[in-house]
Amino acid sequence: MNFVCSRCGKKAAVTTRRAQCECGGLWKFDFQPPRFDPDLIDRHEWSLFRYRAFLPLEEPEEMEETKEPEEPGAASNGRRATSGEPAPCGANSAWRAVSLGEGMTPVVRLDEDVLLKMDYFMPTLSFKDRGAAVLIAHCRAIGVDSVVQDSSGNAGNSIAAYCARAGIKCEIFVPEGTSPAKTAMIRSHGAEVTIVPGSRDHCADVCRAKVAQEGIYYASHVYNPFFYEGTKTYIYEVWEQLGRIPAHLFVPLGNGTLFLGMVKALEELLAADIIAKMPKIIAVQSEHCDPIARAYEDGAPEPAHVTPLPTLAEGIAIGSPMRGKEILEYIYKYNMKVITAPEERILEARAALAGCGIYCEHTSAATYAAYLALREKQGRIYDSLIPICGAGLKSDH
Ligand SMILES: Cc1ncc(COP(=O)(O)O)c(C=O)c1O
Ligand SMILES: [Zn+2]
Repeated sequence: MNFVCSRCGKKAAVTTRRAQCECGGLWKFDFQPPRFDPDLIDRHEWSLFRYRAFLPLEEPEEMEETKEPEEPGAASNGRRATSGEPAPCGANSAWRAVSLGEGMTPVVRLDEDVLLKMDYFMPTLSFKDRGAAVLIAHCRAIGVDSVVQDSSGNAGNSIAAYCARAGIKCEIFVPEGTSPAKTAMIRSHGAEVTIVPGSRDHCADVCRAKVAQEGIYYASHVYNPFFYEGTKTYIYEVWEQLGRIPAHLFVPLGNGTLFLGMVKALEELLAADIIAKMPKIIAVQSEHCDPIARAYEDGAPEPAHVTPLPTLAEGIAIGSPMRGKEILEYIYKYNMKVITAPEERILEARAALAGCGIYCEHTSAATYAAYLALREKQGRIYDSLIPICGAGLKSDH
């Protein structure tokens, strides 16, 4: 299997330790899973690895044999050798060694129009476990022994927990102001926490400088394509649980780790004729940090330059989304909508959910606040699915 550079098209085997291409472009996956087929789901595996037939997982032995392609463009198409059969459940599989039972989160009906996908029912209480489980399984398969990552907190929690499980050393960079509950949890997994003064974007710069100087593996949910392969499972689960995909899919949009995984999985379902058309995707940014929403308003191909203001929705406070161009391409291609969450209504939305027994993070309440504001503006939005990405106990600040 190979990564391919999103800028110059150069390929590298996925065993590479390089965080990005020499030209500075981010890696994308040159990976074509088998046609989505419900018979390939391993119904005896109660984690997201039940979908491993559609995930780029390798056994450690296979990885050792993987060679760098001789020259750009000379590599295989990345198709898995195991297509047609669920992957074997070897006791030594890297995924088995790292799995914490992630995924299979319930879908709960909130009211006549709204379903909630309860991704805070995860081992580290957020949807980021989907990506971290797959990425750290990969790290374990290729023998990575130390990683760094930057995060607003949740992705750091996930990477730290899976590294602890996999026996991989880990350092997480978080911006100042990150919820103490998140930093405490990262430390509890034995990871080092480096708190960086300034914005979330600056925190990422500091971490990337360390990656560049010291060559440590960058287990980034933004850079590393394995992460997006894991977040695909959000859609596989929804389809398996409901037997269909709802008409309106709301999704928080910061760096787009859930967004990109969702779109990839929906494309797979479309290609397999499992669904007839793309549902309406409604991406939600923070009113105080909205580079994609502004670009969308202007029909621009690149994220707008914004100066982020403080927001309760810390998970989506990303001023410079590295994959912004790719995200905007999908937004235009599938005629999606981008809206912002009214800052002054986040607490109210959080209280409304808590009043129904759902105690979520402010960032998840922001998605619900945006849904409520849109409903007031345009009327009922029937058959809507809203992800509840993070648990309330982690964002009590
Ligand atoms: C609770 C929560 N929701 C949503 C997001 C947004 O994630 P993404 O970067 O996938 O857009 C995050 C990211 O950290 C988060 O923690
Ligand atoms: Zn390149």
